[in-house]
Amino acid sequence: MAERVLHYLIGKQEGLFVDACLGAGGHAVRILEKTPAHCRLLGIDRDPAALDIAAKRLAPYGDRVTMVRADFRQLADILAQVGTDRISGVLFDPGLSSMQLDDVERGFAYATDGPLDMRADPTQELTAETIVNTYPAKTLADIFYNYGEERRSRQAAARILELREQKRITTTAQLAKLLRPVLSAKHYHRSLARIWMALRIAVNDELGALSEGLAAGVSSLDVGGRIVVLAYHSLEDRIVKRAFREWSRECGCSPALGDCVCGANPKITLLTKRPELPSPEEITENSRAASAKLRAAEKTVPGSVMSIPSGPAGAI
Ligand SMILES: C[S@@+](CC[C@H](N)C(=O)[O-])C[C@H]1O[C@@H](n2cnc3c(N)ncnc32)[C@H](O)[C@@H]1O
Repeated sequence: MAERVLHYLIGKQEGLFVDACLGAGGHAVRILEKTPAHCRLLGIDRDPAALDIAAKRLAPYGDRVTMVRADFRQLADILAQVGTDRISGVLFDPGLSSMQLDDVERGFAYATDGPLDMRADPTQELTAETIVNTYPAKTLADIFYNYGEERRSRQAAARILELREQKRITTTAQLAKLLRPVLSAKHYHRSLARIWMALRIAVNDELGALSEGLAAGVSSLDVGGRIVVLAYHSLEDRIVKRAFREWSRECGCSPALGDCVCGANPKITLLTKRPELPSPEEITENSRAASAKLRAAEKTVPGSVMSIPSGPAGAI
C-alpha cells in the first residue's frame, strides 16, 4: 500500500506533512524521499520505543524531521508547540507495529507469556491487568463483545471474575489458560486473538483516539491538503467511513425551503469512494497488511470539523 499512500498523501502539496503513527518510520522515509528537500515531516508516536527506532532511521534527513512523543489526538497542541497550525498532509496508520506485537514484555500476544500490560504508552496508568482484575463483569463482557466480537464474551467475563477472587491475574499465560474451559475448543486461538484485540483497544482507547485524531487532522489541513488513513479492522474502518461521509456531506435541502436545515457543512472531498485493499503481491510482501483498508480525502473548504463519536462500542 506504500505507493498508494504516497500517491494520495502528497498530491500537489508541499510543506509540512504529518505521520501521526510514526512507528519504525517506514512511511516517513518514503514521504521524505518523495518530497522536495524543503518539505518537512512531523512524526508522532505515543510509544517511546518506536521513536527511538525511528530516530535512528530518520537521522539522515536532519532538520527536515521533528519527532514528538504524544497521542495524535493532541495534534493541534503539537502543531502549536512546533510553531504552526497548518499542514499539507496527514497520515494515520494506527494500531500496533510488529515491534510492539513481538515484544513479549508488553503482553500484546496471547501465545507468549508476558505481563498483562498492553499499553502503547508505558507512562499511562491503565493496563490490561487493571481492566481484567477490577472491571465489573458487564463492562468486561461489553469490551470482549463490542471490541472483539467474541460470542462467548459473557462466559469469559464470568470466568475471569470467578478466578480473580482466588488469585490476581497478572500474566498473559494465566489469562489464556483460565479462559480455555469457556471458549470453543475449535476456535480457542481465534477467540483468544479476539479477546486480546478487545483488551488492547480498551487499554489504549484506540477508537476514541482515532475519532478525535481524524478530526484534529482534517481541521489542521490547508485547503488542498490530504488525509490518508489505513484501517486494520472493521471498527477502525467504520469510524473513518462515518467521519469522512459526514465531513464531505453536501447540503440536500430544497432551495424552496430557504435556509439549510440539514446542517451539512462539507470540508473535504473523498478521493477514494470505496476503501482500497492491498493487492495479492502486497499481501505476499507483508502478511500483516492483508486486512488494511485505505481511505483518502482532500480538504476543499477551510475550517474545523467536529469529531464523530466512535459509536456504541466506543461508549464503554
Ligand atoms: C502500524 S504502526 C505504524 C507503522 C509505521 N507507519 C511504519 O511505517 O513503520 C502504528 C504506530 O502508531 C502508534 N499509535 C497508535 N495509536 C496512536 C495514538 N493515538 N497516538 C500516537 N501514536 C499512536 C503506535 O504506537 C505504533 O507505533
